[in-house]
Amino acid sequence: DWTMGAYREQAIEAIRAQVGDKKVICGLSGGVDSSVAAVLIHEAIGDQLTCVFVDHGLLRQGEADEVVKMFRDEYAIPLIHADEQELFLGELDGQSDPETKRKIIGRLFIDVFQKYANEIEGAEFLAQGTLYPDVIESVSFSGGPSVTIKSHHNVGGLPEKMGLKLVEPLRELFKDEVRALGTELGLPPSFIGRHPFPGPGLAIRCPGEITREKLEILRKADAVYIDQIRRHGLYDEIWQAFVAILPVRTVGVMGDGRTYDFACALRAVTSVDGMTADYYPFTHEFLGETATRIINEVQGINRVTYDITSKPPGTIEWE
Ligand code: XMP
Repeated sequence: DWTMGAYREQAIEAIRAQVGDKKVICGLSGGVDSSVAAVLIHEAIGDQLTCVFVDHGLLRQGEADEVVKMFRDEYAIPLIHADEQELFLGELDGQSDPETKRKIIGRLFIDVFQKYANEIEGAEFLAQGTLYPDVIESVSFSGGPSVTIKSHHNVGGLPEKMGLKLVEPLRELFKDEVRALGTELGLPPSFIGRHPFPGPGLAIRCPGEITREKLEILRKADAVYIDQIRRHGLYDEIWQAFVAILPVRTVGVMGDGRTYDFACALRAVTSVDGMTADYYPFTHEFLGETATRIINEVQGINRVTYDITSKPPGTIEWE
């Protein structure tokens, strides 16, 4: 009779057997998978684990603080907070092509991670929150011809490049099992149920050139939108919801004045695995109320649209 409690014990034994008294580095994204992996490994080997959290300046409102607070303060896991916003935003300055943006972020991420990991003396292992579907996907994609829709942000070649061995305690699990394990490990439900967030972060929700001004506006609008979804009790029915800031300013009228501000698009989809998705059928009341709140509460946006494209033919993210 197989329970998550038993899996936890087994996994802890396996990690101890693999790692011995050596040190492990874990890249923490703030997502569920890497977080569950980190907490599990910490339970197994304590302070032989150090986490590295790279802040690329493309995170949502309050996200970096939440991650640092939870792992460093609540779990007492040694954590390096790599504040590299200047580097990422500097290199992205003036870049508008989606693949170029993705490649810049992917390359810098690896450089930065490597730089901080090198400071951890004697590390021999790299921990990753790889799940079973990731394992199968990388096998099935390696065969026939394929078209790259988007260069995915991952750290695939990193272990070999750094001469590190991999620790992947979630390799046999599906997403729902990882959530169950996270619950078993005491991670808060609000954290376990979080929508997925892509590695390149807000960069792919800001089509065209990224500026600090646009990122600031986007963060505020996204926070209002998610607050609306939570208030209406819809968060858990939705696979992913976010705002994209559009690279266009439009004319509006507010009070007795003319405005000339950015337009944004709201996105919300249902999905099982992210491979296909349907747009979420919000009520007109919900959409109207949300548009009013965003325009009233977020300076810099004067027009709100709702993206009703399913996947395919659209993708979930805008870039
Ligand atoms: P798309 O936009 O391709 O997204 O329909 C499918 C799912 O993947 C997420 N996504 C990413 N996740 N690195 C990630 O870790 C990436 O580069 C990346 N691009 C997209 C997206 O948020 C959605 O859940």
